[in-house]
Amino acid sequence: MSNTKPFLNRYQTYDFVNRNPVIKNKVDVSHGTVLYMEGVSISFDGFKALNDLSLYINDGELRCLIGPNGAGKTTLMDVITGKTKPDAGSVYFGQTIDLLQMDESEIARAGICRKFQKPSVFEKLSVFENLELSMQSNRGTWVALFASLNSEQRDRIDEVLEIIGMTALRFQSAGILSHGQKQWLEIGMLLMQKPRVMLVDEPVAGMTNQEIDRTAELLLSLEGKHSVIVVEHDMEFIRSIAKKVTVLHEGSVLTEGTMDEVQNDPRVIQVYLGE
Ligand SMILES: Nc1ncnc2c1ncn2[C@@H]1O[C@H](COP(=O)(O)OP(=O)(O)OP(=O)(O)O)[C@@H](O)[C@H]1O
Ligand SMILES: [Mg+2]
Repeated sequence: MSNTKPFLNRYQTYDFVNRNPVIKNKVDVSHGTVLYMEGVSISFDGFKALNDLSLYINDGELRCLIGPNGAGKTTLMDVITGKTKPDAGSVYFGQTIDLLQMDESEIARAGICRKFQKPSVFEKLSVFENLELSMQSNRGTWVALFASLNSEQRDRIDEVLEIIGMTALRFQSAGILSHGQKQWLEIGMLLMQKPRVMLVDEPVAGMTNQEIDRTAELLLSLEGKHSVIVVEHDMEFIRSIAKKVTVLHEGSVLTEGTMDEVQNDPRVIQVYLGE
């Protein structure tokens, strides 16, 4: 028997090469919670941006996160997505996936994605092509643009176009979309990857009132299918989508409840008046 191993054929791909190590284990939500943050603290030069923060997000929930400037809202998103590692505490995706052991790209591949405030669509490409490019795949950008789509992929793009209300704009070049439309397209680009959790930081900043209403509808329509955490300063908008609202202050959860409950909470009023 020869002990020399055969050379691999470079025209072939091999299953044993795990090119995209995704998730070590499946997201376990058997207790209904998709995200656990416990005792999370992080300091920047001695300043506690998050201070013993604990927060639980239910699977499929739309959660609103409010709080004055500097309360730690964006830092909280940085910790969930792996951009920043906390000094203390634990952060779990479902009951078993320790996010603190994973880097940013592993966390994104596991199904937690984030929408930044500034839309970053490919201006020269059409709405459809932008969605096509965001499809979860091992393919490089070049291949993704020129390879043909299978019917399942086409269906997903159609479905997302419908969700973001941009079916009629599918061939429009993204560069000439309005600010609001770009934001929806970017939400659509995230949806192409079928994320389990979506973090959305200040989605309606700079939008017209009509665009804000449409964004509220869009985010509400995601409830149950994805877990969404929305950070926003526009209280009217928050009121229009809110079920449960978490108020952050000085890096900790000040209170949680319905919009009416938190708005009538004297501590919340105090915190906002003191701004
Ligand atoms: N990388 C960093 N280096 C130093 N300080 C930071 C860093 N990131 C955040 N901070 C500080 O932590 C605090 C919380 O900031 P964060 O951006 O999380 O607040 P926020 O609630 O998102 O506020 P806003 O509503 O203004 O967006 C702020 O005082 C900020 O200056
Ligand atoms: Mg912020």
